[in-house]
Amino acid sequence: MVTNYENIVGQALYASNQKGIKKFLPLDYRLAIKKGTLISRTYKQYFDRKKALKASSPSQTIPDCGVTALKGEKLPYWEELVDYWSGWTEKEINKKKNSTGKYRRHLAEAKELLAHENTRNFALSDELLKIVGKYLGTAASFSNAGLWWGKKQERYAGSPGFHLDSLDTSCVRIYVYLSTVEKENGPLCVIPQEESKKFVKQTGYLGNTIPDNDVYQVISEDKLEVLTGARGSVFAADTTKCLHYGSRCTGGDRIALIFTYASYHNFDDNSKVLREISLPERPSNLQKLALKHFSYPS
Ligand SMILES: [Fe+2]
Repeated sequence: MVTNYENIVGQALYASNQKGIKKFLPLDYRLAIKKGTLISRTYKQYFDRKKALKASSPSQTIPDCGVTALKGEKLPYWEELVDYWSGWTEKEINKKKNSTGKYRRHLAEAKELLAHENTRNFALSDELLKIVGKYLGTAASFSNAGLWWGKKQERYAGSPGFHLDSLDTSCVRIYVYLSTVEKENGPLCVIPQEESKKFVKQTGYLGNTIPDNDVYQVISEDKLEVLTGARGSVFAADTTKCLHYGSRCTGGDRIALIFTYASYHNFDDNSKVLREISLPERPSNLQKLALKHFSYPS
């Protein structure tokens, strides 16, 4: 399928174009080495966080394929979250559409979002932290949050080309749609973990965006999961292990809240974001651990 996004993608990095030892180090090896270095500096946290997760049994799980729909109504504060930000977004977008200001895809960032108590309660609910932690195999560390406005026919409404994120060896992004998202509204589109791994192995992919046709030469197009859904739909995706794209808003806008979680030892120095979030009263162990993180200083 040729899209009008093809000409703004296609800067993929491949191992075959690298020099020296890098030529032989595939993406998963590189990330594992980087992570091993971080863990070796604070290895106690690595084991403590595995132990902290042991007794948890969430009511929903993210399968090993790295992509799934979650039942929003079973997540604490989901209704409050969707109601509040739907109303806020409607007013904000109307204001922006009536002004001459330049389009920005971020309507709100983590600090503003998590200052809203019920949003913080949703993002740091024990239930969600258990779901994410169970998939990651360690007590989750909160990484970031954003409110994204994918505007109709806006070429830079998000990340419209296939790619893998690089914040960790594994991560979970929770998408909460605040508008109905059909195919033409730029749904998140994901290739499950196993097939994505096959692409990385066969091509020596190291990063950046890849044209659709290159991906479909290796992976059958019917493997693509197109995450359409009504307002309030919730999806989870491991965007470091699953090739994905989104925001190809050809026929209408897409509004989505995105919450990101990774392991304690991840590659993004988000200490500033974490310092600005306050814990609920009487926090659980998982909630306390969610606001701790260790990385290379930026
Ligand atoms: Fe991404």
